[in-house]
Amino acid sequence: MKSGLEDVVAAETVLSDVDGANGRLIVRGVSLDELVATSRYEDVLHLLCDGFLPLPDDLPAALGAARQAVFAHVVAADAAIVALPPVEGLRALMARLADGDDIDPALQLVAAPAVFTSALLRLRGGMEPVAPDPALPHATDFLRMLGGTVPSPQQAAALDRYLVTVADHGLNASTFAARVVASTQAGLASAVLAALSALKGPLHGGAPGPVLDMLDGVGKPADAPAWLDNALARGERLMGFGHRIYRVRDPRADALKGAVRLLAASGAIEPQRLALAEAVEQAALYLLRQKKPDRPLETNVEFYTALLLEALGFPRDAFTCVFAAGRVGGWVAHAREQALGGRLIRPMSVYVGPRPQVAA
Ligand code: COA
Repeated sequence: MKSGLEDVVAAETVLSDVDGANGRLIVRGVSLDELVATSRYEDVLHLLCDGFLPLPDDLPAALGAARQAVFAHVVAADAAIVALPPVEGLRALMARLADGDDIDPALQLVAAPAVFTSALLRLRGGMEPVAPDPALPHATDFLRMLGGTVPSPQQAAALDRYLVTVADHGLNASTFAARVVASTQAGLASAVLAALSALKGPLHGGAPGPVLDMLDGVGKPADAPAWLDNALARGERLMGFGHRIYRVRDPRADALKGAVRLLAASGAIEPQRLALAEAVEQAALYLLRQKKPDRPLETNVEFYTALLLEALGFPRDAFTCVFAAGRVGGWVAHAREQALGGRLIRPMSVYVGPRPQVAA
């Protein structure tokens, strides 16, 4: 038995390849570097879903229309839902979306995290939700629905790069959850809801919020080594470091570090904030090499995600929702790939409990 299914191959996919030894990510034949340099989120969605869903000629317009359709469900966000942590509010609203395997339900699922997250955050702040503008690119409209005004091109580009960067990543826990559900032919909404539930844990998509808690705890660059050393001595994990597959630096960390530097150059991130993050990263990598020499632990996607989403105005308890807004494209594509070509996923377990005294 492989604990955590480590190294177990559980699906064949054309969607993405995570090369953990060399720190490379390929999404449907395109390297992450090329993808972030040339694509908007809608392009990646097209790339992922091509052949698995009947895509419309104008996918950006169809996704805009899906945002509008999904916005009708925002009325269901009552006081109890708004009072939940955002990712749980998102899960509650996404549970309202109908199961189905066609393009309209699929695009509504892709649109939903952006629409619901912005609406929930505004309602929590005592503001009216902002209806989508279907003519805008998805990332631009996400920030507009959140803040009420059209964001700067730099802000929109930074969010777009984030959504592209996290759109798909092999058989991670949430994508596997989506494929397990899809393998029962339960439908896309059920598959995506299972994936969202898996994503929210701190070992998967719940880490970027705690990265900021760590930066707050450290306070200033000079205190980073001692603070992190103490955290490790208490047996804590340093959030934003380590990965099940990557044994070298996570290529997504570099893609996002680039976006963070661009935001900093445009004045959207304080130079001190970036300097603190870089000092913490440097100290953490040094300490992890000292303390865990047998386990390469490098910066992962969550570290610079934290800075990027903070600079774009997302509260830290909503970071997982923004992660979902990107990864949902991968979930839908994997669920379709599984439903169309895969078998029911039904592994075995090894019974290690007591046996009856007398065999039946
Ligand atoms: N900080 C300190 N130690 C870490 C660590 C971290 N971020 N990540 C792993 N380790 C250590 C473990 O304590 C363990 O040490 P031990 O063998 O001395 O007990 C060893 O590395 C292996 O850990 P394991 O839990 O088997 O690795 P995994 O492949 O299951 O874990 C993560 C992968 C991502 C869950 C793990 O690295 C982690 O918890 N990171 C922090 C959370 C995070 O950033 N999550 C976002 C992932 S994209």
